[in-house]
Amino acid sequence: MCTLRGQLWALYVLLWAFASSTTAVTLRQVDTAAHPSAEPLLSHGRRIPKPYRNGGRRLHQSQAQQEAAEYCTTGNFTALYGAIERDLQPWRKTGITADLMDWVLRGVSKAPLRDKGVGIVFKGGKPFIITNTAAFETVAHHKRLIIAHLALFAALSATFGPTIPDVEFLVATADEPSSLLHRYGNGSNPLRLPPVLRFCKSNSYADILVPDVHFFMRNFTSRLLSVASNFSNTWPWSAKKQDLFGRFSPYKRAANMHAPELYRRGKGGKDICTVADPNLWFCDVRKHFIWEWARAAKRSGLPVDVAQQPKRDMLHHASHKWLLHLDGQSCSSRLEQLLVLGSCVLKEESGYYAFFHHLIQPYQHYVPFWKERPEEAETAMQWLASHDDQAQRMAAAAQQVATTFLHKRALMCYWLKLLQELASLQRFTPGPEGPEGVQRRYDFWTSVEEYMEGEGGRELARHKLENMEFWD
Ligand SMILES: *[C@@H]1O[C@H](CO)[C@@H](O)[C@H](O)[C@H]1NC(C)=O
Ligand SMILES: *[C@@H]1O[C@H](CO)[C@@H](O)[C@H](O)[C@H]1NC(C)=O
Ligand SMILES: *[C@@H]1O[C@H](CO)[C@@H](O)[C@H](O)[C@H]1NC(C)=O
Ligand SMILES: *[C@@H]1O[C@H](CO)[C@@H](O)[C@H](O)[C@H]1NC(C)=O
Repeated sequence: MCTLRGQLWALYVLLWAFASSTTAVTLRQVDTAAHPSAEPLLSHGRRIPKPYRNGGRRLHQSQAQQEAAEYCTTGNFTALYGAIERDLQPWRKTGITADLMDWVLRGVSKAPLRDKGVGIVFKGGKPFIITNTAAFETVAHHKRLIIAHLALFAALSATFGPTIPDVEFLVATADEPSSLLHRYGNGSNPLRLPPVLRFCKSNSYADILVPDVHFFMRNFTSRLLSVASNFSNTWPWSAKKQDLFGRFSPYKRAANMHAPELYRRGKGGKDICTVADPNLWFCDVRKHFIWEWARAAKRSGLPVDVAQQPKRDMLHHASHKWLLHLDGQSCSSRLEQLLVLGSCVLKEESGYYAFFHHLIQPYQHYVPFWKERPEEAETAMQWLASHDDQAQRMAAAAQQVATTFLHKRALMCYWLKLLQELASLQRFTPGPEGPEGVQRRYDFWTSVEEYMEGEGGRELARHKLENMEFWD
């Protein structure tokens, strides 16, 4: 438990870190009347402040920043970066134009995005917000997720500095992906297909995957990865109980009607989805599995301990051989937690996937089930019971993937690589100070540093997020 003094100290350190990294440009939206009229304008008529216009200077890159960036190329993350290549494929030929970005930014407050996200420009290695910060107040708990992303962008800036190219993007926080191919001419026109960054999608979407911000918010590396061997040492394979274990909050699964791979059927083909809106199913995946499949399975003598309550910690999870994964509204971050524990994961094949899922393969890292029906869990358990050695090998392989590719530095490298690849597709100069005639015009331009010194920092403090884990 943190003491109040500890928290104040942590807040002080955070503010100091932000303040002391403010060596170059500080942007403030300035009063129009104070400046002569020949100066460049932001699109709402405000002038671009002097230090930025005159500067255009890049931040100095420190030795540490250079080493961090080098680590991302020499650190053998090629396999991880494979997802970036795949996700950016739609825009390879056309590139990402200023017009496409303007169109995306204009739509940010409307469906399907509904302000659950934030537009960002990195310029000279520093992040700026290009959407309306007032909208953060209208999106309930998404405010916390958005501001956690801002803390991440400040950390990326501090870690890599000017190695981060000048780049413009929108990152979204809602569980449900938004760039549904059906909605955008099946992707036939990439210049009307929104390149939106998000933690989860399925094959019917063109969202660009990024690591779930919960990795950073919940100290995935220090809390789980760095003690991976403790889980295995405390619960060696032979000491684990041979049953299927899982605890779940009963979130409903979002399944768009135009993403058929997401539709779910229950036991015996039972209909478990209801119409939530004209395009969306809500499917009772978790409730159905707990109350209908698991209960009956237990009654029939199968070794199953799957319930809503009581919740148990990850060390307890590690005492069971077979760990159940069921996705939530979309991708559940429980999956990556289960992969660390040295137990064998039964993964629901929901159709949703996250940025690292291409690294885990059925029967190499996990046992798949519920491609069609929940009953496949029984077949999977029978298979596991008769292939115990293989189950043990899969558990070790899964842990290996997690410790190799999901630690905090690998995740930040993923962001760096993605931003570099995105920047290479841009057909414009991001930032309000482009070449003559093709300047970007933004309705909003707020320095992340400044925002974090005010409301951003307060929001982090409210949720005890001042010390999210990043590079060090
Ligand atoms: C690099 O990663 C691949 C798999 O992703 C692995 O087979 C190889 O041994 C690694 N190389 C080094 C030098 O660690
Ligand atoms: C998109 O693909 C679906 C399924 O192949 C098809 O029914 C639909 O007409 C297509 N829509 C467009 C705009 O091409
Ligand atoms: C993450 O780690 C930091 C520093 O050790 C700590 O202050 C913070 O409370 C931790 N957060 C969580 C959610 O565990
Ligand atoms: C992990 O194991 C080491 C060595 O046995 C021990 O010192 C440490 O406290 C353990 N950490 C946790 C979080 O269990």
